[in-house]
Amino acid sequence: MANISRREMLGSAALVGGWMMMGGDLAAAQATPPAGDKPADGPYQLPDLPYGYADLEPHIDAQTVKLHHDVHHAGYVRNANAAVARLQEIRETGGESIKDVRNATLALAFNLSGAILHGIYWQNMKKDGGGEPAADSDIAATIKRDFGSFDAFAGNFQAAAAQVAGSGWGILSYEPLADRLLVLQVEKHENSCVWAVPLLVCDVWEHAYYLAYQNRRSDYIKAFMRVINWEDVDQRLRQARKFRD
Ligand SMILES: [Fe+2]
Repeated sequence: MANISRREMLGSAALVGGWMMMGGDLAAAQATPPAGDKPADGPYQLPDLPYGYADLEPHIDAQTVKLHHDVHHAGYVRNANAAVARLQEIRETGGESIKDVRNATLALAFNLSGAILHGIYWQNMKKDGGGEPAADSDIAATIKRDFGSFDAFAGNFQAAAAQVAGSGWGILSYEPLADRLLVLQVEKHENSCVWAVPLLVCDVWEHAYYLAYQNRRSDYIKAFMRVINWEDVDQRLRQARKFRD
């Protein structure tokens, strides 16, 4: 299981709750980089996959994992670094360049949100995952407490992911104010949703499933449920709860 840093968890919390509704032209921020480029130097790095490209088969196919990680996720990382660099450049240059702060900030929010969520997404899955969390785990007990049963949670989670309008994410989050688990939808991942920490995220952008599942998003979501790394989700819950202290 990959270690989850406090920095990453705080970044996740800021991601889901901290960014303001921004609107505006996101075309520049969302531009997909050309395939094969290395992420630019900067504070963010593309994490290695915690398994091989084919290890999630037959549920998530190797070609999709490779494209998703090496091109899409890498693009978020590269563009987040580029946005950080652009903001630094603006601060140093001043003058007319200050007018570009909004575009650069939008690009940072969009791309860093994507980079953070994809980092969680890969760790949320594993070879031979799925099923239910261990009965003696915190995540199992808290799912039962807050949703009534695992099946009730699974139905809520899958429906939320399936009903995301367009691109986005279904997210099981920890909300520290009331110490509750919540199933949330994020339809623009750079926008705020609620102050909560994502524990389990299902990517329902088409690049996550279209090669193998085409328009059958629900089938992909069922497949995702079969590769969940519940130990990772459990660790995230226990770390998120430390923020209450
Ligand atoms: Fe994705």
